[in-house]
Amino acid sequence: MKNKRILCVVGTRPEAIKMAPVILALQKQEWADVKVLATAQHRQMLDQVLSVFGIALDYDLDIMQSNQGLTELTTRLLVALDKVLEKASPDMVLGQGDTTTVMTTSLACFYRKIAFGHVEAGLRTNDIYNPFPEEMNRVVVSHLSALHFAPTKSARDNLLRENISEGHIYVTGNTVIDALLATARKDFEIGIDLDSAKQLILLTSHRRENFGAPMRDAFTAILELVERNDTIEVLYPVHPNPNVTKPAHEILGVHSRIHLVEPLGYTQFVQAMKQAYLIISDSGGVQEEAPALGKPVLVLREETERPEAVDAGVVRLVGTNKTLIISEAEKLLFDKEYYKSMALGISPYGDGKAADRIVSILKKWLL
Ligand code: UD1
Ligand code: UDP
Repeated sequence: MKNKRILCVVGTRPEAIKMAPVILALQKQEWADVKVLATAQHRQMLDQVLSVFGIALDYDLDIMQSNQGLTELTTRLLVALDKVLEKASPDMVLGQGDTTTVMTTSLACFYRKIAFGHVEAGLRTNDIYNPFPEEMNRVVVSHLSALHFAPTKSARDNLLRENISEGHIYVTGNTVIDALLATARKDFEIGIDLDSAKQLILLTSHRRENFGAPMRDAFTAILELVERNDTIEVLYPVHPNPNVTKPAHEILGVHSRIHLVEPLGYTQFVQAMKQAYLIISDSGGVQEEAPALGKPVLVLREETERPEAVDAGVVRLVGTNKTLIISEAEKLLFDKEYYKSMALGISPYGDGKAADRIVSILKKWLL
């Protein structure tokens, strides 16, 4: 009998990608009455992912506004979420990651004394402004959650250091690898006119702490890299935040070997990662996916909450320093031994079975 009400909340693109395997696995359980709520903190990018995974919405808060600020986003989310919690009265709410959506969802659940389960719990840089505001969101969510699904052992250790109760933490692997392996099995058309004779560099960038000068520096480095090397081309699906689109088009929009495109659907993006020689990104999810596909990543950040791939030598932090970005990228382009040392094809974040583990744990807690 479907008598346990589980409300799964998604707000942004990466939350939908990482929650999709959990939602799909829960929907197969005879004991679970699963409902999906989209805050739609992201609109187009969220809808892209939901349609790829065939996930229908039960509630849509349709919250996104152009160039939204953190305070007004937080306020609007809290009010709207509370109304659904009152109506749906779930036994358990699940959310993923460190966005404003997950932080407000955990708080709204706390105010109604509803259990919240946190997927991808325990990531930390221990620097509240890097990434901003995600690091503080993570801390807040951890202290409001009843169950913590930590992707790795080091994430579990972070939670234990903050006195989170050991019996409520489970190391499950990251559900992003479930989504990736299910998607990467097949080949897709990217739908962009790329030159197969060139080495493809895939670029993404969206972090708030890089807005302004750091992001402009990183883009200037990419432009110089392309100008210095006629063997490469860059594919950059530009995040629609106006703080990103403006410098991206101003600095990178002029070169014939730089393809600035709209955000790619998940299947197209996975295909682009598969075809890339090298990935340059500040994305959290990409740092987890690319190593599993054997692709080196240069990370446009000073710190990361995902140390496992850095420790394994397959991801390197380069920040937004122009000289370092160019020198590290050229080393990977020209030093084949160095390239091989970063293209190992290891998956420190999961084995593709995280969602099944999460569902088994939920069953144990709820039944
Ligand atoms: C958010 C998350 C970040 C996550 C990222 C994933 C917060 C504070 N930030 O950052 O942790 O890494 O999503 O991509 O939770 N926009 C659109 N269409 C879309 C999506 C966004 O036009 O489909 C534009 C809108 O102008 C929107 C702006 O991007 O106001 C910013 O969106 P927001 O979710 O506030 O921040 P992100 O930078 O996307
Ligand atoms: N992604 C996508 N299309 C794109 C760029 C990225 O589907 O054009 C996917 C990517 O595979 C990863 C996720 O989006 O799973 C990462 O999202 P983002 O970088 O926006 O957020 P973060 O992971 O940094 O929170």
